[in-house]
Amino acid sequence: MPIQKVGVVGCGLMGSGIAQVTAQAGLQTLVREVNQELVDKGLKGIDKNLSRLVEKGALTEPAKTEIRGRLRGVTSLDELKDCDLVIEAIIEQLPAKRELFSTLDSLCPPHTIFASNTSSLTITEIAAATNRPQRFVGLHFFNPVPVMKLVEVVKTIATDPTVYEEMVNFGAQLGKTPVRAHDSGGFIVNRLLVPYLLDSIRALEEGVGSVVDIDNSMKLGCGYPMGPFTLLDFVGLDTTYYISQIMFDEFKEKRFAAPPLLKRMVLAGWHGRKTGRGFYDYADPANPKPMSL
Ligand code: CAA
Repeated sequence: MPIQKVGVVGCGLMGSGIAQVTAQAGLQTLVREVNQELVDKGLKGIDKNLSRLVEKGALTEPAKTEIRGRLRGVTSLDELKDCDLVIEAIIEQLPAKRELFSTLDSLCPPHTIFASNTSSLTITEIAAATNRPQRFVGLHFFNPVPVMKLVEVVKTIATDPTVYEEMVNFGAQLGKTPVRAHDSGGFIVNRLLVPYLLDSIRALEEGVGSVVDIDNSMKLGCGYPMGPFTLLDFVGLDTTYYISQIMFDEFKEKRFAAPPLLKRMVLAGWHGRKTGRGFYDYADPANPKPMSL
């Protein structure tokens, strides 16, 4: 059965991006947040992105209106009960995800496929909260979702191969390049990216170089679009901290352990761009000021 109606749970940075691309791909999309204020905030971000595409001539005004017509914000999970696919993009905490999917499992018909956008938890431990592990996959998108071309499609030992292929095709239907990944914590990208980001913090702690010099090194020396500290602030230090804890718990390897400085910054509320302060201070957003140790 083709996917016609998609539910997205969570309308933060990732959820709103996912909802935007599913609506842009021609799918009816319901995006759910816990209250109207958060729904409005997420939809406002999508409107801004679509308007930017119109300004650049990448989208016509009528096409934008059509996309917005396919997209609706809701606050009740009940509204997702006739979706063919539900993609979860809520907080990176296992109990919250398991509770959500257990509720969705009792609301949605048997054909509905469930997907989690988790970046570090295993899909197996989330799917185990439902009675449909065979219809459960990981769909891991990258920030900013409308721009980044990759989606990791994750299968567990229980995922039905037909459902899995359907989801690989779904990723391509969204205009992304799907890669196939097994259900190992962090999948492909974070298995490689997280140790790199944590090592950058360790290098800073050890005085190897300053925030700006380490950023410039990887940007100009390796052609990365952002240096590690700019990227850490972009992804969120709290998010990176949660991910590292989950991956360390899974693998018990030092390369996934959070450096003390990351922990201190999270405890101090320095979560990166979203809080105005991380490895850079964004009081003047056009001129971020690097921290010095
Ligand atoms: N939403 C939508 N579009 C955006 C955007 C956003 N938040 N930010 C930038 N764009 C668009 C711009 O409009 C622009 O479009 P055009 O080329 O059509 O004009 C394009 O992206 C490039 O933007 P800019 O010229 O402003 O800036 P840039 O060239 O530096 O690109 C970037 C910005 C795409 C974010 C780039 O810096 C980049 O690729 N950075 C690395 C991002 C990355 O690594 N993401 C993965 C993080 S890890 C993750 O998400 C997963 C996890 O589990 C932690």
